[in-house]
Amino acid sequence: MTGRVANKVALITGGASGLGQATARRLAEEGAVVYIADVNHVLGNEVADSDASLRFVSLDVTREDQWEPAIDGIVAEHGKLDVLVNSAGIVELASIEETTEEVWRKVNAVGTDGSFFGCKHALRVMKKRGSGSIVNMCSTASIFGGPRIFAYSASKHAIRGITKSVATLSAQEGYGVRCNSVHPGNIETPMLQGVRAIADERVPGSAKAMDQVWVGEPIDVANMILFLASDESRSVNGAAMVVDNTSTLTEGVVPRLEQSE
Ligand SMILES: NC(=O)c1ccc[n+]([C@@H]2O[C@H](COP(=O)([O-])OP(=O)(O)OC[C@H]3O[C@@H](n4cnc5c(N)ncnc54)[C@H](O)[C@@H]3O)[C@@H](O)[C@H]2O)c1
Repeated sequence: MTGRVANKVALITGGASGLGQATARRLAEEGAVVYIADVNHVLGNEVADSDASLRFVSLDVTREDQWEPAIDGIVAEHGKLDVLVNSAGIVELASIEETTEEVWRKVNAVGTDGSFFGCKHALRVMKKRGSGSIVNMCSTASIFGGPRIFAYSASKHAIRGITKSVATLSAQEGYGVRCNSVHPGNIETPMLQGVRAIADERVPGSAKAMDQVWVGEPIDVANMILFLASDESRSVNGAAMVVDNTSTLTEGVVPRLEQSE
């Protein structure tokens, strides 16, 4: 099937890499004009240059003053924003005992603050047209916690709450804007590669153990987001869509890593 999001205008944060990039390409393939928003200008421009339906917009999601011009610029050009995907994120492998205030604030700035600002400004423009779809990237870490991804898990739980609050407000007020979260298990991206490297450095062999749980491909998540972005999901609002091939039901989001003394 083609054209599942034909004529839609989408903004994807963290669109230069990993799941954001795969989603940008998938939405473009199905007929959307897609703005890739990222702090990585080199990669963002490279991805945008590879497809006529992709454009790059510089955006640090932690900065509310950058959100306004980014979204208003798209609306000025196209008259609307149909889809926002909040995919920008960073992870730190640290338990509560190891998490400094700096790490806590850094992870939450990108994940929690970025999703808050994105939802706030997208809702502002989407409700004027009475339609729109916001997709927030959560994780299996926001289904249950992670012993050594404390700030990340907390941020993803906050984003899950943001999602449901936006969805219920929109339904109550009749804004016509849907807001859903996606909860991937481990997916093969640069972020996971970084996690593997750090885990293995701390506990040799742990990356292999991690991969035994399940590892998906970015396209698996991109296809879920495509569905949520499209009108096919018009009755799906406030939902938490899990893409983990049962890993939350079985092994868990992270394997047990013995800390070296
Ligand atoms: N890969 C996985 O296994 C996995 C699993 C569950 C959830 N997730 C979530 O999916 C999302 C994407 O992860 P990924 O694996 O594609 O990671 P990635 O590292 O490949 O991509 C993340 C992107 O976010 C961008 N980014 C970081 N800080 C930013 C900021 N302040 N403003 C704008 N952009 C910023 C980076 O430049 C990068 O392009 C994240 O929210 C992550 O937590 C990933």
